[in-house]
Amino acid sequence: MQIIYLGHAGFCVETDSSIIIMDPWFSKQGAFDSAWFQYPKNHHMGDDVQAILTRSKKNKYIYISHEHQDHFDIKFLQTLISRNFTILLANYSCQIVKNKLNEVNYHCNDIILLNDNEKYTLKDAEIRLLIMDTELNCDSAILVKDESHSFLNINDCKIYDRLENIKNTHGNIDIFTAQFSGASWYPTCYRMSDNVYREVCQKKIASKFETTAVAIKTIKPRLYLPSAGPPCFLDPMLLSIHFQDINSYPQTPQFLAYLDQHCKSIKSSTKWTEIWPGDILDVASLKFIHKSSTRMNAIDFKSYVNSYSDEYKNLFSGRENDQKKIDPGDIFVQLKSELLEKLSKLQLVNHTITTLLYWRISECPEKMYCIDLVNKTIKITSHIKELNNYYRITAPAWLVNKVLTREISWSDLALTFRVTIERVPDVYNTVIHGFLILDTNKIQSFCEKMQKTNINNERIIMMYQGKQYSILRYCPHQGADLSQGHLEGALLVCPRHQWKFDIKNNGKCIYNETCIDAICVDNH
Ligand code: FES
Repeated sequence: MQIIYLGHAGFCVETDSSIIIMDPWFSKQGAFDSAWFQYPKNHHMGDDVQAILTRSKKNKYIYISHEHQDHFDIKFLQTLISRNFTILLANYSCQIVKNKLNEVNYHCNDIILLNDNEKYTLKDAEIRLLIMDTELNCDSAILVKDESHSFLNINDCKIYDRLENIKNTHGNIDIFTAQFSGASWYPTCYRMSDNVYREVCQKKIASKFETTAVAIKTIKPRLYLPSAGPPCFLDPMLLSIHFQDINSYPQTPQFLAYLDQHCKSIKSSTKWTEIWPGDILDVASLKFIHKSSTRMNAIDFKSYVNSYSDEYKNLFSGRENDQKKIDPGDIFVQLKSELLEKLSKLQLVNHTITTLLYWRISECPEKMYCIDLVNKTIKITSHIKELNNYYRITAPAWLVNKVLTREISWSDLALTFRVTIERVPDVYNTVIHGFLILDTNKIQSFCEKMQKTNINNERIIMMYQGKQYSILRYCPHQGADLSQGHLEGALLVCPRHQWKFDIKNNGKCIYNETCIDAICVDNH
């Protein structure tokens, strides 16, 4: 087995008879309305993939893990000349990738939907997709095994609670890759003091590093490869993120230094190394052929980003004229219909949300919508009713227009990082989050799944300080299996997004109002 790193979350796995290209993202326009760009640059790798698909006589597959544009680069897929390949997708309840391919009438050998853990047999290997399908998080990982070796690529799919089972079921993993850096709009888009921002970033980095390190220790591969981010922000609106003294997008060398320090116990059996687009790994010998001599440790990141952003100056200045043509007043009016449509799909059972959500267009700050998610009402207002309990999102009209015209989705809007959010108190609320980032057609099933998690009362017993505690088995956030969590003192840490539940305080989450109902059942 040979693996070529394509950049970001992209890999090309080659066995004796098959080639599997994973999440190829090469478009020069980046992703999410050009908010994210590939780091390091990998645009040239598109030609290499084009050549492999054209020349190789092996059976060829392209796997797309999920619909996010840094994984599903439809523009690149449309440039492919030789279409003698099969596309492999996870069989999600909502088929966004397949629908988009159908919309553009995409031709290739076949598009195959695989169920969770279903075996798909190639001539000399097998593939399984491990799927997470929770509306807020639709993502998949891929396991490729040939006769001698295996590669597990979980990219940014948070199946941490399943890793032990995967290892036990499918045996030793040679190569493992997983995201180690942040990719969400919190805290980047949230207004907070510099000190709090720094603190939140530090916590996010620590939590993500620890989770990935635990994943590596669980899988115990022969080699771990860091991948799937962080992206690069070249839009002048976003560029300053890279020049903050801390942000939640740490670079590879920082994570590898963390592993050197915190994973000494597995160092004799598991290696880790930095990879650069074009690197070719021979899995049997773990030897690399480096196509480029450049390594992240050796470059000056800030000057790299500055010259990278210079290449895009014309792109962003050219967009400004189009943006000025959008009438903010019109967008404000149209936004209401969209929000009402979303509200109509919201079905809240036993949810008491006391927080009002406010939506504002940046160019007309004097008015905003006040949305009551429980009573499903929207009113125009000029002021926030309760300054100690509100959630407000503000975005430029031209960007909201792209959502309303379906150029981008609601989740893309969140990933552009071009919105501003104020949240008082700074407490996560699943319903508000879902309402903001989901497209209208996903809201109903999001509510249904949330309801299912809430009424699933299965309990497990866990030990804390020699005593037995009964707790709810499934995390109230997105249903991860808490039997796979770990304890930090009295705090049970969910393996998926690291919410912490205080066993000594009835299992109450320390970040929000959720609870896993911890009861001591030990009479001794
Ligand atoms: S599922 Fe997200 S923190 Fe538990």
